Amino acid sequence: MKPGPSLMKHFLQFKDLRAEEYAYLLERTRIIKTRFKNYERYTPLVDRTLAMIFEKASTRTRVSFEAGMYQLGGSVVTLTTGDSQLGRSEPVEDTARVISRMCDVVMIRTYEQARIERFAAHSRVPVINGLTNEYHPCQILADVFTFIEHRGSIAGKVVAWVGDGNNMANTWLQAAEVLGFRLHVSTPEGYRADPAAAGVRDTGCFEVFDHPLEACRGAHLVTTDVWTSMGYEAENEERRKAFVDWCVDEEMMAVAQPDALFMHCLPAHRGEEVTAEVIDGPQSVVWDEAENRMHVQKALMEYLLLGRIG
Ligand code: CP
Ligand code: NVA
Repeated sequence: MKPGPSLMKHFLQFKDLRAEEYAYLLERTRIIKTRFKNYERYTPLVDRTLAMIFEKASTRTRVSFEAGMYQLGGSVVTLTTGDSQLGRSEPVEDTARVISRMCDVVMIRTYEQARIERFAAHSRVPVINGLTNEYHPCQILADVFTFIEHRGSIAGKVVAWVGDGNNMANTWLQAAEVLGFRLHVSTPEGYRADPAAAGVRDTGCFEVFDHPLEACRGAHLVTTDVWTSMGYEAENEERRKAFVDWCVDEEMMAVAQPDALFMHCLPAHRGEEVTAEVIDGPQSVVWDEAENRMHVQKALMEYLLLGRIG
């Protein structure tokens, strides 16, 4: 049964869910992933349709949502700006009204957060943020699950963010506040994350470092992202100069905890934000991290459409 309007939840930013909902989702992810690995059929979303709207490029988000929805028994419709009326200026509000009469859940990758919020405000069905300029909550959900799989609880741990104050940094900040870990943030001057703008009120959940090496000191997880995110390509040359010292290398990993993990949401540029030695080295869990996008999103779609199971 579809959730009624009062029960309907969207996942537009990480803080849309509470810590106890994350505890539930992460446990459901573990169960759903184990079933998948054991080739056990699990199809609770038969006859449900996921609509995916891509206004920016994607590999992982598209494949993980599409494969995940089919595995759950549902089906998928994919639109891009170029092949839909969105590219011919149909208002996002009208698009939301129409798609949400035909589909049961919508995933959107777009530019401004305000655009997905406008869509959600006019949608009859749950809307999931598949990346905006401001946030990438599905990725951080996968990253947290991956950390827990490898190292246990993330509460009280230190995560080092080295690089751009972008959608990933903002979402890590929200996750630190919701899940109770500490984020060390080091970005070049001029590319700082703004915790208040990211909706983070607890100033105790993060610390800002001028030097990336200092941010990594003692960290349980070191993570980074591209110097130039999608939509900012015009700044590419000036960013290449500004970010040159924000490359995660073996020296940075050496000052982190001896068993520190390395993560990157991908796609990566070896020799820019991370060296090949680190991303292809023994502390890197980037392939588990990518795979886990699918498992966490299956749990997320199950939760948004069916509520708690059992
Ligand atoms: N990490 C991530 O969202 O990858 P894609 O851009 O390939 O979807
Ligand atoms: N920050 C990057 C993440 C890509 C998955 C971007 O927005 O392009």
